[in-house]
Amino acid sequence: MTDSVLLSTDRGPVRVLTVNRPDKLNALDLATLDALQTAFDAAAADPGVRVVVLTGAGPKAFVAGADIAQMNTLTPAQGRDFALRGQRMMRTIETLPKPVVAMVNGFALGGGLELAMCCHLRIAADSAKLGQPEVNLGLIPGFGGTQRLLRLAGRAATLELCLTGAPIDAARALQLGIVNRVVPAAELEAQAMALAEQLAASAPLALRGVLDCVNFGGECAIGEGLAYEATQFGLMFATEDMREGTGAFLARRKPEFNGR
Ligand code: COA
Repeated sequence: MTDSVLLSTDRGPVRVLTVNRPDKLNALDLATLDALQTAFDAAAADPGVRVVVLTGAGPKAFVAGADIAQMNTLTPAQGRDFALRGQRMMRTIETLPKPVVAMVNGFALGGGLELAMCCHLRIAADSAKLGQPEVNLGLIPGFGGTQRLLRLAGRAATLELCLTGAPIDAARALQLGIVNRVVPAAELEAQAMALAEQLAASAPLALRGVLDCVNFGGECAIGEGLAYEATQFGLMFATEDMREGTGAFLARRKPEFNGR
């Protein structure tokens, strides 16, 4: 379906989701928020999907923000609902039990940077521009930008981006820890897919354990987080994948993980 606001393609165990409103630089309107929610719920439930790659259609933008034309008409109650729907969808991504890689192919502004930040890893084209420009519209970030940027990059960077509204380039985003890797634009897709395939070959339950520990640990005191990690670690000994991974190491062969 090429007229859909969200395209979905499976490349083996990697599901590639592409926000598809290139004429609006992939801005997030309500229909796109809902399509993302449905697609990530489906990816979570589908055992054939081991990794999700999220990107934007066209050469210019990952996502240039929430849809400004749609927001212009909202009442306060509708604005709150819009924020809550975006936040719910992004929390679904953040807590997905399998890795999500944001392939940042251009502008990631406002809701676009918020969308990239709820993904587990971010790989950006060297041409990408990232920012939280909401104040320029008389707004503030509403899909978690003030909170996730704070946790990713700290108070100074969060206040700089959110107060000035000025975009930064990919190299600066890497320096601030907002993205994991920056690659030449022409190599972005190949490198993002290589990363996704590497993750897809890994042990799914172990990846899920890491994601659960990091999500839980981000919200609790270190003692609780360490106890949770030890419990998750113990649970790994109940998996076939743990026997396979350790056994393959000892037998000097490549492991084959089945997610059990
Ligand atoms: N919401 C709705 N439409 C958007 C949009 C957004 N966040 N960002 C871009 N668009 C639309 C433009 O209105 C334009 O539509 P039109 O052709 O029907 O007029 C189209 O996408 C192309 O954008 P344009 O501004 O012409 O491209 P540009 O290359 O000159 O500028 C940007 C690119 C990203 C700098 C500019 O589009 C921009 O500043 N966008 C808004 C970013 C923002 O504030 N995001 C946070 C929202 S909370």
